[in-house]
Amino acid sequence: MTYQMVEYLDHLTVSDRQLLDKAKSMLDHAYAPYSQFYVASAVRLQNGLILCGTNQENASYPLSLCAERVALLSAKANHPKESIDTIAIVAKIPKGDIREIITPCGACRQVIAEVQSRQNSPIRLLLNSSTEISYIIDDALDLLPLGFHSGFLT
Ligand code: THU
Repeated sequence: MTYQMVEYLDHLTVSDRQLLDKAKSMLDHAYAPYSQFYVASAVRLQNGLILCGTNQENASYPLSLCAERVALLSAKANHPKESIDTIAIVAKIPKGDIREIITPCGACRQVIAEVQSRQNSPIRLLLNSSTEISYIIDDALDLLPLGFHSGFLT
C-alpha cells in the first residue's frame, strides 16, 4: 500500500486544505449518539464541486451509515456523470483528541472501490483527525487488495 504522510497542515495544497477544512466544519452535523464518534467526509468532484456527509447512526445499530458513504453516494446521486477527485475523511470524539488517523472501514472501501470503477481516474483519499498529520492515498484501490468486484458476477 502506498500512501504519503504530510506532517503539517500547512504543507497540504490549497485545495486539499480547503477540502479538509470543509470536512472539519461538518463534524458537528454527525448524528452519533451511540458511539460518540463523529465522522465527516467532504468529496471533491472533478468539476470542483464539494459534497459532504457525516455518520448517521440509528437505534437499530447496524442501520447506521458511515460518513464517507453518505458523502460519496450523495455525490453520485446528485452528479452521476461527474468523476470524484478526492474524498477527505475526518473524525473527532467529544472528549480529547484522536491520536491515530482514522481510515475508512472495509464496507466503505468496497463502496469507494466500486465508485472508482465507474470512472476513468483514481479516487484520492485525504485523511486527518486531531493532529497536524495527514495521510494521502492516491488510489482508493490500494486500500482494498483482491477486493470483490462486478467482474465476478458476469
Ligand atoms: N464510521 C464512519 O463514519 N466512517 C468510518 O470509516 C468508520 C466508522 C462511523 C460509524 C459509526 O457511526 C461510528 O463511526 C463508530 O463506528
